[in-house]
Amino acid sequence: MHKVETKTVLPTTNLTGEITIPGDKSISHRAIMFASLAQGKSRISGLLRGEDCMSTLHAFEQMGVKVEEAGDDELIVHGRGLDGLQEPDSVVDCGNSGTTMRLMSGILAAQPFFSVLTGDQYLRQRPMGRVIKPLSEMGAKFLGRADNSKAPLAISGGAIKSGTYHSPIASAQVKSAVLLAGMQVEGVTTVYEPHLSRDHSERMLRYFGAKIDSFAGGASVTGRVQLTGQEVVVPGDISSAAFFLVAGLIVPNSELLLKNVGINPTRSGIIDILQQMGGSIELLNQRELSGEPVADLLVKSSDLHGIDIGGEVIPRAIDEFPVVSVAAAFASGTTTISDAKELRVKETDRIAAMCDSLSAIGADITPLDDGMRIVGGKPLHGGKINSCGDHRIAMSMAIAALGASAEIEINDTACTATSFPNFWELLGQKG
Ligand code: S3P
Repeated sequence: MHKVETKTVLPTTNLTGEITIPGDKSISHRAIMFASLAQGKSRISGLLRGEDCMSTLHAFEQMGVKVEEAGDDELIVHGRGLDGLQEPDSVVDCGNSGTTMRLMSGILAAQPFFSVLTGDQYLRQRPMGRVIKPLSEMGAKFLGRADNSKAPLAISGGAIKSGTYHSPIASAQVKSAVLLAGMQVEGVTTVYEPHLSRDHSERMLRYFGAKIDSFAGGASVTGRVQLTGQEVVVPGDISSAAFFLVAGLIVPNSELLLKNVGINPTRSGIIDILQQMGGSIELLNQRELSGEPVADLLVKSSDLHGIDIGGEVIPRAIDEFPVVSVAAAFASGTTTISDAKELRVKETDRIAAMCDSLSAIGADITPLDDGMRIVGGKPLHGGKINSCGDHRIAMSMAIAALGASAEIEINDTACTATSFPNFWELLGQKG
């Protein structure tokens, strides 16, 4: 449990300068996981030291993986190969991290031992049936709370077979769980998804030497190809950059350079959305780091207008809708977000949380079953906000406060350490 912490954020008149965005959470998880499953040594730099990624690291340490600290954001992982993990002698605590629990479920489904995964009060409420179903179809034995749908999960892995799964949702966690199980057994395992979700697993597994095919509609893996340790450089997290992108757009007289941000097309929906709303965002110094495209993002204050958002861009910006709703509150006209029912099963119900929080400070926002409608341009006033223990709600409301007419107090803010440990420090320097 986090200690209860409250932050007060004041309106500001301009934001200028450079910000180095911390490492990508999704990529950091995968770097730790794949380095642990590889043969030999991997060096990971640019790693996010957020609580979620530390949950993944501790899980592998419990299974016998040796890790050396090599600097603030650098680790050396001594991989144990596909068959070298040991049965953890206690429950594995995934904290607040859905990525840890769902990807670990895929890895453990194929390991010939017993394990139990649990998490915090929020993670224990989130749906796990979406990974239990395909992994059970491959032959793994799962037992979970709430009729096998919620954590704690007990896993008896090992005797599984390759397979094909048509996922009803575009979820990188589901896709990755199935690919990670399939990677460890003979044969080809294929996952189809309705829209392309983030493809970091496919890119990084390939980088570690796995045989992965990506195609329109899904990906497949050929099993039993050993991974080899690598040097991985993790780019900055576009989902963290998103807060400062929106801040730079809505606060007048602002110009911010966000350095070293991952712009993988399966993640860069936020740039497309904000540009369509009239936002000035330039991609500078484009390059590639360990198989992932990266750029510096230059954002300048802009007059935003409302748009309709739905379809294939939703999974490409799935974590950014709390802060997109903030941008929409500062835009002229109406923004409608649809096809985004997944927001209801994130760290909290993000549709309800953003509607409650933004309406508490004067925004015109209506929840929809699968999204929300925001009529922008209403003046936002100060107030008190509950983060619901969700890092992205807390940070989105801090950004809203920068453009409101009075201070906003946000409670339960320690949760921001899950994905962006120095958020408040950076905000304090710029805000
Ligand atoms: C993630 C996938 C997404 C995202 C989450 C991280 C990942 O979840 O919301 O923050 O690292 O694979 P879903 O797979 O549930 O869409």
